[in-house]
Amino acid sequence: MLDIDFNDATLPSAGTLVLLVTEDGERPALYARVDAATGGAVSRAVDAAEFGFGRGKSCVVLGPGAGLARIVLVGLGKSADIDAQVMEAAGGAAFQAAKAGAVASVAVGVLPAALVAHAALGAVLSSYRFDLYRTRQKPDERPKLARLSVLSPQPDAVREAWPALRAIAHGSFIARDLVSEPANTLTPPVFADRIADLSSLGLEIEIFEPDRMQELGFGALLAVAMGSDAPARMAVIQWRGLPGDGPDAAPIAFVGKGVTFDSGGISIKQAGGMEDMKWDMAGAGTVVGLMAALAGRRARVNAVGLVGLVENMLSGRAQRPGDVVRSASGQTIEVLNTDAEGRLVLADVLWYAQDRFRPRALIDLATLTGAIIVALGHEHAGLFSNDDKLADQLAEAGLAVGEKVWRLPMGEAYDKGLRSEIADMKNIGGRPGGSIVAAQFLRRFVGDVPWAHLDIAGTAWSSKDAACIPKGATAFGVRLLDRLVATHYEG
Ligand code: BES
Ligand code: MN
Ligand code: ZN
Repeated sequence: MLDIDFNDATLPSAGTLVLLVTEDGERPALYARVDAATGGAVSRAVDAAEFGFGRGKSCVVLGPGAGLARIVLVGLGKSADIDAQVMEAAGGAAFQAAKAGAVASVAVGVLPAALVAHAALGAVLSSYRFDLYRTRQKPDERPKLARLSVLSPQPDAVREAWPALRAIAHGSFIARDLVSEPANTLTPPVFADRIADLSSLGLEIEIFEPDRMQELGFGALLAVAMGSDAPARMAVIQWRGLPGDGPDAAPIAFVGKGVTFDSGGISIKQAGGMEDMKWDMAGAGTVVGLMAALAGRRARVNAVGLVGLVENMLSGRAQRPGDVVRSASGQTIEVLNTDAEGRLVLADVLWYAQDRFRPRALIDLATLTGAIIVALGHEHAGLFSNDDKLADQLAEAGLAVGEKVWRLPMGEAYDKGLRSEIADMKNIGGRPGGSIVAAQFLRRFVGDVPWAHLDIAGTAWSSKDAACIPKGATAFGVRLLDRLVATHYEG
């Protein structure tokens, strides 16, 4: 991970200097110094380019010669509109502008320390790469930058704000690494091993193997795993950030869909795009990254993450359309489409989560339906809930961190589609409202705890670079849920 250090605003003598400057506020002290050092080249460039320091705009000026090589101006827009997201985008732009060199600094003027730290977060998030399997990269294709200095008038205060944000970046990277990993290397047992490694953060981890899940009656999850040579796993990841058992001792619970590859099973998917189904475990990856973030920043909360890990494959042992399975809740399910497997996995894990932990709130994340991409595209994740307060909290947290969610309706009429002739329910309804019907299915397994479901099929993976999110795995949900916890559940 890109290293960040915090210093006061002295003129750097090498590399790239990025200056974050508002449209209307006072310029950072370094702006005048750099302008003088370049004999006024900086202000001439600003004038010539009619560069007005608008948000998202940037301008490159050659350095004064010996030492400082390049000066990059990044606009922050109007000072009254600066928030954490503006600073993160600027930090991301700073990293992109400076990554080719070995040395770089980012300077800001007088801004609250908490905001300055978000520029560092943006730079780190923007620096993510998944290079594990590139053996022939030319040196100039690799970013050289390993350390970035953030220069501000109050470096001590910014340094103090940093560890909590760094933990969030670390959690996001864990999620992105898991989601990027192909399915031949990330099987359920390997995924479980990677989770077990996180006990060094102070997380308590239990791994359940198929025998144990059989004892617990996980007939729905195990049916999905049947066709694969790779055995299923469930991981329970606990973070106890509150001492004793006070009124807030009951944990908040997070559940993730971890289908390490979704071929569709016997109801096989078409070939085009099937490779995307390596990231059908993004819900689980997010839950793992989130738990790492909470532990990393020593969040004052009890939280538990549960992930169901299976591979959905075809073989002589695979489940068939028409099979009836018994879930851990006792409810039976007629499996009419083996490609609606995520809900089968979640049925058992959700049931177990509420039965064992009686959580204050239960939130699941899943790349559950293609229909949510039709409905919301890639801008919002689908939000479904049995609790208006929890739904509002999630929507608000999403806006605050830029991981937006949009609530869709639920109700009895949608639930009817799940009626089966032979079992308690079928695992598919019709095509209309497919994401809602899937949520209705999940709802049958959460008892009466406040529950929300995030369908992240459209937001877990991105095909274009954004300010702080290089294309690929987004870790969508790590920051949203971290914010939810920080705002509403920390004691
Ligand atoms: N993992 C898929 C959903 C998905 C689709 C995620 C595209 C990301 C991108 C899920 O298991 C699935 O196959 N859902 C089916 C449900 C249908 C059979 C009711 C779908 O969406 O087609
Ligand atoms: Mn599927
Ligand atoms: Zn799936």
